Amino acid sequence: MKKHKLFTPGPTSIPEEVLLEMAKPIMHHRTEEFLKIAKEVFEGLKYLFQTKNDVFILASSGTGAMESSIVNLFSKSEKIIVINGGKFGERFVEIGKAYELNVVDIKVEWGKSLSKEELEKIIEENRDAKGVCVNLCETSTATHFDVKGYGEIISKYPDIVFIVDAISSLGAIPCYMDEWKIDCLLTGSQKAFMLPPGLSFISLSEKAWERVEKSNLPKYYFDLKKYKKSLEKFDFPFTIPVSLIVGLRKSIQIIKEYTLEKIWEEHKKRATATREGILAMGLSLLSSCPSDAVTGVILPEGINGDELIKFIRKTYGISIAGGQDKLKGKIVRISHLGWQDEFDVLTAITAVGVGLEKFGYKLNIEKGIEKAKEILFSH
Ligand SMILES: Cc1ncc(COP(=O)(O)O)c(C=O)c1O
Repeated sequence: MKKHKLFTPGPTSIPEEVLLEMAKPIMHHRTEEFLKIAKEVFEGLKYLFQTKNDVFILASSGTGAMESSIVNLFSKSEKIIVINGGKFGERFVEIGKAYELNVVDIKVEWGKSLSKEELEKIIEENRDAKGVCVNLCETSTATHFDVKGYGEIISKYPDIVFIVDAISSLGAIPCYMDEWKIDCLLTGSQKAFMLPPGLSFISLSEKAWERVEKSNLPKYYFDLKKYKKSLEKFDFPFTIPVSLIVGLRKSIQIIKEYTLEKIWEEHKKRATATREGILAMGLSLLSSCPSDAVTGVILPEGINGDELIKFIRKTYGISIAGGQDKLKGKIVRISHLGWQDEFDVLTAITAVGVGLEKFGYKLNIEKGIEKAKEILFSH
C-alpha cells in the first residue's frame, strides 16, 4: 500500500475540508444561496490579490487568464515586451503572436532572472511598447522575477501596462497588486489556492481598464467587460463550476484564518530547507534566483530524469515534476505550494536521494536531511 503524495507545482494537494465542501450536492448557480457564496469569494479574492480592485473568476486553466489579459488590454499590431525566461514566458510570446501583436521577445537565459535596470533599458529602447508581461515565478525554471522592482519602473510610463502571471505563486509568496503597481494580475486554482484545476483569476487596475475600453482584439468568452457587468450582482456571465467555487470559499477561509504573511513565511522556510538540503546532499540547483514556490534540482550527468520520476512515483507513491522542453530529463522540480508542512520537505528530498541511489548515484542523504531539519525546526 502506498500513501500518494503530490509535490508537483500544480495540481497540488487539497485539504480534506475543501474536498468535503466540493463533495456536497451541487446547487444551481443563479440562486440566492449560491450568489451569497460567490459574494464571499469575490471579497476574499481581493485579500489574496492584495488589491482594492475587483477580481474576476474564469472557468479555464491559468492560460485562459493569460489569454484574457492579452485580448482585453491590447489592440491590433500593438507592441508588447515579454520577459521570457522559460516555458511560461514563452507562452505570453505565443499568445501575443497568435493575436498578431508586435512581440518584443526578451529571452532570458533559463534559470536566470532580469534586473529592473535591465528592464528599464529595454523599455527605453521600445518607447512605443504598450505593455510588459512577466511571470512572478517562472515555474519551468523555478525562478523568481522581481515584480516589485519592475512595477517601480513601469509605473513611470503612463502608456505601458504591467501584466503579471502569478499562476504558480499567488498565495505562496508575497505579491501586492496595488502596492507593487501591477495593472493586471492573474493566477490559477490548482496551485497555492489548494483547489483542483479549472478556475483562473484576473484583476485589472484603473489604468488597465482604460485600455480595455480601447482594445479592438477579438474576444467573446474572455471579454472582461462581461465579467465586470455580472460582478455588480456577484454573478458570472457563463455557467461557473459551482463545486469549485464552493471549495474556493473554504480554501479562502483557511488562508484568511492562517493569514497570508504566515503562509508566505512557511513557504519560504520549506523552500530554503529544500534548497539547502539538496545542496548538502551533493546536488545542485537550477536557478540562480530561486523562487520559494518551487525548487529545480539539476540531476547528475547520465541520469534520465523522466525515468527517475516515474520510478519514485511508482515505487514510493511520491509525485514530483520533471523538466520541460530543453530541460526534459535533466532536472526535477519539487513544489512547496499550498497544503504542505515541514515533513513534506524531508519526504521529498529523501525521495530524490533514495531514487538516485537506486539509479546508482550515491549521495549524502543523511547530510541533506540534517541540514533541512536544522532549518525547518530551528524555532
Ligand atoms: C507560471 C505559469 N504560467 C502559466 C501556466 C499555465 O497554466 P495552466 O496549465 O493552468 O493553463 C503555469 C502552469 O503551470 C504556470 O506555472
